[in-house]
Amino acid sequence: MVMHYRSLLLLLWSSLLAAGQSPSEAAIPRITDPASFVNPFIGTTNVGHVFPGATIPHGMIKAGMDTDSPGNHAGYDSNPIYNVTGFSQLHDSGTGGSVPLSNFKVWAYANCTAFERCPPSLANRKLLRKVLSDGSADDFASPGYFSTNLTNGIRVQLTATRRTALHRYTFPSGTTQPRILIDLTNDGQRSSTDPQLIIDPETGRVEGGASFAASFGPGRYRAFVCATFRGDGYSLGKPTEYGVWLNNFPVKGTTDIRQVYYGFQPEMGAIFTFNPAPSADTSIYVRVGVSFISTSQACRTAEQEIPDFDFDRVHKQSRDSWNDVLGRIQVDTADVPRETVELLYSSVYRTHIAPADYTGENPNWRSREPYFDSLYCNWDTYRTLFPLLSLHDPVTFSKIVRGMIDIQKNEGWLPECRGATVQHYMQGGSNADPILGEFYVKFHKHASELGVPALDLYNALLADAEKQPPNWNLQGRQVEVWKDLGYIAQDMFSPGGANTKQVSRTLEHAFNDFSIAQVAKIIGRRNDFRKYLGRAGNFVNVWNANVSVPDEPSIVGMMQPRFADGTWNYTDPRHCSIHDPLKATCFLNAVRRDGFYEGSPLVYSQYVPQDTAKLIELQGGVDAFVKRLDFIFANDYFESTNEPSQQMPFMYHYADKPGLSTQRSRQVIAQYFNTSTHGLPGNDGAMGSYAAFYLAGLYPLPATRQFLLSSPFFKQISFHNPVFKKTATIKAIGFEGNPPDGTGGKVFVGSVTIDGKPWHSNCYIDWDVFEQGSTVDLHLTDDISVSCGTGEDALPPSISTGGYD
Ligand SMILES: *[C@@H]1O[C@H](CO)[C@@H](O)[C@H](O)[C@H]1NC(C)=O
Ligand SMILES: *[C@@H]1O[C@H](CO)[C@@H](O)[C@H](O)[C@H]1NC(C)=O
Ligand SMILES: *[C@@H]1O[C@H](CO)[C@@H](O)[C@H](O)[C@H]1NC(C)=O
Ligand SMILES: *[C@@H]1O[C@H](CO)[C@@H](O)[C@H](O)[C@H]1NC(C)=O
Ligand SMILES: *[C@@H]1O[C@H](CO)[C@@H](O)[C@H](O)[C@H]1NC(C)=O
Ligand SMILES: *[C@@H]1O[C@H](CO)[C@@H](O)[C@H](O)[C@H]1NC(C)=O
Repeated sequence: MVMHYRSLLLLLWSSLLAAGQSPSEAAIPRITDPASFVNPFIGTTNVGHVFPGATIPHGMIKAGMDTDSPGNHAGYDSNPIYNVTGFSQLHDSGTGGSVPLSNFKVWAYANCTAFERCPPSLANRKLLRKVLSDGSADDFASPGYFSTNLTNGIRVQLTATRRTALHRYTFPSGTTQPRILIDLTNDGQRSSTDPQLIIDPETGRVEGGASFAASFGPGRYRAFVCATFRGDGYSLGKPTEYGVWLNNFPVKGTTDIRQVYYGFQPEMGAIFTFNPAPSADTSIYVRVGVSFISTSQACRTAEQEIPDFDFDRVHKQSRDSWNDVLGRIQVDTADVPRETVELLYSSVYRTHIAPADYTGENPNWRSREPYFDSLYCNWDTYRTLFPLLSLHDPVTFSKIVRGMIDIQKNEGWLPECRGATVQHYMQGGSNADPILGEFYVKFHKHASELGVPALDLYNALLADAEKQPPNWNLQGRQVEVWKDLGYIAQDMFSPGGANTKQVSRTLEHAFNDFSIAQVAKIIGRRNDFRKYLGRAGNFVNVWNANVSVPDEPSIVGMMQPRFADGTWNYTDPRHCSIHDPLKATCFLNAVRRDGFYEGSPLVYSQYVPQDTAKLIELQGGVDAFVKRLDFIFANDYFESTNEPSQQMPFMYHYADKPGLSTQRSRQVIAQYFNTSTHGLPGNDGAMGSYAAFYLAGLYPLPATRQFLLSSPFFKQISFHNPVFKKTATIKAIGFEGNPPDGTGGKVFVGSVTIDGKPWHSNCYIDWDVFEQGSTVDLHLTDDISVSCGTGEDALPPSISTGGYD
């Protein structure tokens, strides 16, 4: 993929010397068009499943190209060997499971010899893209825009507002019968039932809808479409030919699917022939409104959002909205390659693709509250995605929280996984809890002005914590077992849910309760605080001190499955790692259900963010803990692609060896992340925010006021927070660039000052920095043996050392 930079980077010297600044503190050049550093194609082949099409930040509409790649979860695959099947309106980005959405593809024909000879079915219409001289596909993408050239000579351009897509099809010179198809039924899973479709032969307007399968759960959803056409620079007039199509046959003159529908048909839609432009090449706009409520709502929002079919205006507005959100993070680009800046802004960009703002499109109940969907699973996002929103996009964060609380009020429990308006399967515990906790711990002083009533938030948390749902696999937790035993026993079934992931869910439930404790503390519920902080310590109940890694007896003590009577089952610590002799996986569809989800017992033996000090004690002290971390990295137990491993490179901090964390986290970036289409190690999920934190030299501890501290990949990075109206800046004093393989370099934090005063730790900073808009000076050294400091509170907090009292 070649990135064409439409506009050169504009480096404006913003007000050179603000009052009171000394000349040496002259402002660095402000990046005014950060969108120009975004490469949407990162991770668009080779299982990244990234969506590179046109969308606004958190937009419902994600208009993009669909291919017949086996990895077309986001529709697209940048590998040009795959055929293009259409340009559809809804996508997710970076997911696994079954292919989500990809509804309502649009397609264009330049030269079928007759209306009836245009091949409408997916298999018969598909085509390759043009290929550039370097072998990459002739595709271009930038925030809010996508374009391609098909081998039939048609150029396709896409842009979007929140609920409406605008497509532009430019036909080859001399095209006399430009034709356009709307595909009603072929979503990503080809799962439609119950189609309805009506064509207006006067205007060419298409209204329709169908029911489709959810991608990661048992439910189905209905979606509706309203498509209208306009000539670019000429009056299109009435379509010269029109009709419904069925499988591979256009039926000329039909206007209603019921005229041709006589039972289940896998493929159907509408097809038109239009007048060409009288002079010059023909371009036709297709405006596609989508709704989860009704066709009339799809038509109404399309008319409101894009009344003028003005492609350039919509594109500019979309890009402006991206620059607004991306520009709140600023870096000094001096002394780093352009690729590093691209990696940062592209990672932040992907953080804002999902969750998606479906406000006004919730078919399940009426509410004035925001409604966000495409939550991935909260298990994926609580660790880094929401903490990144805390730094620079708290208003969006507050709306997502409001939407989650509204779901709890209407469904009884907070959502976990959710997509296409329906519940999806559970991954961890009830991981909305740390998301609400993150919001409340950081923004409680502003919660009511942001529309989040403290009591509603707290009651929603208590519902997760205390109320057994009919099916924990779709919402809530396995509450009764958790309350009775303090762990999820391997031999105790709760109604509904499948009997899996008992050990990893125990660890998640403990962390979920930790985040509830942090909220209870702020609102002054002392008894609840003690209760939930106590439950946050329940991870010890699945710690079996006698299990060691086969052939490595010195690494002893492991998280293990346990029966209700207190006796233990055994899962090989190598389970579902690359060293697993049984080659088992621990994904949702795993054949062997050995208690763990997307991480080996060895990985989970390092997964207690709320009390790492206790883990160190259980493992036999600091040396054993460091030895275990080293063993995990040296033997590839660390899994860059799966969330339970994400904190691990930073965990040397807790052993007072922050230099090792800095080096490990930089090695992870060097080894697994780059700006190529292969630049992600696995499904993107929330990896954008994880990479962005590593590049910023921070790792968040969700639902707390602390961030683990390393050094940024830039001389300076700043975060503007629109709720506090403050900008926090982290400066790397003595910065000399980043070692390409992440090893060594003058990158280690020797000492820290905040607003000119010495800070008591080199290993973490507090939320106050962002609340007050402080300047953090990191004095760098090339000495990897730096420490966290000498004072009592130099190490990052843990429950058992009194850190969260
Ligand atoms: C692309 O589609 C064409 C036409 O159907 C077909 O001949 C070709 O084999 C397809 N290519 C791939 C990689 O599927
Ligand atoms: C497609 O072709 C047009 C010229 O017809 C060109 O301007 C454009 O750069 C090409 N590539 C893309 C991705 O639009
Ligand atoms: C349609 O047009 C394309 C591009 O001009 C050309 O390559 C192709 O052969 C044409 N197909 C037919 C059936 O005429
Ligand atoms: C570990 O082994 C010792 C000695 O055999 C035994 O006393 C202890 O109960 C075992 N602990 C666990 C958790 O199985
Ligand atoms: C004990 O673990 C084994 C291996 O994971 C598993 O097959 C078995 O079902 C477990 N026993 C029970 C009673 O859950
Ligand atoms: C990017 O990373 C992938 C996967 O690790 C690797 O195959 C590729 O060569 C890297 N590309 C560049 C330009 O470094």
